[in-house]
Amino acid sequence: MRDNIVAGNWKMNNDYSQTKKLINDLKSSKIPEDVRIMVAPSFTQLSQCKNLLNSTNISVVAQNMNANNSGAFTGEISASMLKGIEVNIVIIGHSERRSIFNETDEILKEKVKSALSADMEVIFCFGEELKERKNNDYFKIVNNQLRNVLFDLPESCWKNIILAYEPVWAIGTGETATANQAQEMHLYVRNLIRDNYSEATSENISILYGGSVKPSNAKEIFLGKDVDGGLIGGASLNANDFIEIFSAF
Ligand code: 13P
Repeated sequence: MRDNIVAGNWKMNNDYSQTKKLINDLKSSKIPEDVRIMVAPSFTQLSQCKNLLNSTNISVVAQNMNANNSGAFTGEISASMLKGIEVNIVIIGHSERRSIFNETDEILKEKVKSALSADMEVIFCFGEELKERKNNDYFKIVNNQLRNVLFDLPESCWKNIILAYEPVWAIGTGETATANQAQEMHLYVRNLIRDNYSEATSENISILYGGSVKPSNAKEIFLGKDVDGGLIGGASLNANDFIEIFSAF
């Protein structure tokens, strides 16, 4: 059976005191037992989050990592550094990393391999841009993004992969994919995994939706049969909104 997951991607937000307040507010809420809750703070707040969330079942996730283990890569962080502070999950392939920091499929492939060989879980993001949606190219784009980065991996790796469909046109825009558009893509992706691997692997993989999820639309989106949760940006910065979203299952 696959996990339901709601993860908050804080992006470059929340300093030390904002992090402390937000985490303490989350801790005082009722955490559902059937949903994995995750927060992805900036690198500088990972340790604080780990400490504050010790003895809860909210997981701490890194937003990025470098594919190399160590060396002359100023400003970068490796999988072993994350593992050293018991951060065992990392987001790879976010559209902001692709578009602002020029991360190509080749770079993402190396990062995924590095994270998996360090025994980390990977939340792998993919999704089409607006013009690709309008041109009806979105299945092809998503197919390529997954094929180029993930489909060479041995099947045994897939137990450590979580997918996040994030149509770029819905990120931070207030415009959300409809529940039908999300479900349609998630089913397409699950079928791709079945065709490239197996029915069992496709049924066990959690596929999250991301892009302007908020308390008012979470329930409807999560109702999709192949939608196993969400990767939440803006709304995860507000404790009440994030709590409402992860309570929407
Ligand atoms: P928003 O929820 O702010 O649209 O961001 C989505 C996202 O990019 C999560 O990774």
